Amino acid sequence: MISIAKPLMSEEEKQGVLEVLDSGMLAQGPKVKALEEAFADYCGVKHAVATSSGTTALHTALLAQGIGEGDEVITSPFTFISSANAILFTGAKPVFVDIDPVTFNVDAAQIEEAVTPRTKALMPIHLFGLTADMDPILALAEEHGLAVIEDACQAHGADYHGRRAGSFGSGCFSFYPTKNMTTGEGGIITTDDDAVAESCRTARQHGMRTRYYHEELGYNFRMTDIHAAIGLAQLQKLERFNEARIANARYLTEHLQGVITPTVPQGRRHVFHQYTIRVPDGKRDALAEHLKANAIGYGIYYPVPVHQQTLYVETLGYDLTLPEAERAADEVLSLPIHPALTRDDLDAIVSAVNRAVV
Ligand SMILES: Cc1ncc(COP(=O)(O)O)c(C=O)c1O
Repeated sequence: MISIAKPLMSEEEKQGVLEVLDSGMLAQGPKVKALEEAFADYCGVKHAVATSSGTTALHTALLAQGIGEGDEVITSPFTFISSANAILFTGAKPVFVDIDPVTFNVDAAQIEEAVTPRTKALMPIHLFGLTADMDPILALAEEHGLAVIEDACQAHGADYHGRRAGSFGSGCFSFYPTKNMTTGEGGIITTDDDAVAESCRTARQHGMRTRYYHEELGYNFRMTDIHAAIGLAQLQKLERFNEARIANARYLTEHLQGVITPTVPQGRRHVFHQYTIRVPDGKRDALAEHLKANAIGYGIYYPVPVHQQTLYVETLGYDLTLPEAERAADEVLSLPIHPALTRDDLDAIVSAVNRAVV
């Protein structure tokens, strides 16, 4: 079986964890601080604030912008549910704008129509390892005085015209095991803004600036040093992992036939968290069956766009048609792309897809 994802753990991760276990400092401590400094440096920003997950990173970053009841946040419906749910957690309303069918990211040209006096932030999602089209998004944010919160949970090391994902506003990353780097569970917020970083640190730790003095409502969204030790080792290898993903993607794109392969727009570095093809004409599910029969792992990310999820339709009363997100949900299929794939694995993937489709 060629798996769709494979976390790569070696001696460095094991040594790091053992060091923490021996130190007796298991909760948030020096390893978390070291990971924050190294990750901020990697993204080219002043601050990083580690959290317990990508979801809590998004939630915290929204809280740090003062977003809550009565506010609206514009985002993409074609994502993992966490992006939109983080907006709900604050009491604000996710407002969905359809996607660009080529990049699967929010269509920047359609955002302005969705801006209302209640809009407080734009939350582009850098899906599959490719940044959203940030220039028009930043221009709109500037014009309307909106915060920018990047869901960079799938985009560690992605670039947009020389700038790293996570350096455009508040960047929120996930370190879930399938991601380009992992801590087990974990997340991090990146920002250049001193006040935002301070608010994130406070919200992460029960609204506490001075020990046991609580000025506002906060949470326990901390990362542990055990997780951070894994992250520090993984961060050392992230560029190697990303380059391997990019090389694997190049090979697949050169050899696959009969399917629509990913496009990388000029000036962007796609780090291929997922290698997502489109299989039009209702043939996607047959390809999935064929891959399963040939022991090739695959993923359907995502079979239902957020605005059509039961929670959103039946409980929250969303009644929207967003044709490109809905078409993508019917046509996408992600193939294995992780750094542990061998040339034989890649050839097996190519051969299975080409035999099924052509
Ligand atoms: C786009 C996106 N947003 C948010 C998340 C949430 O991250 P986590 O699973 O670490 O909470 C994920 C990760 O699965 C994701 O892919």
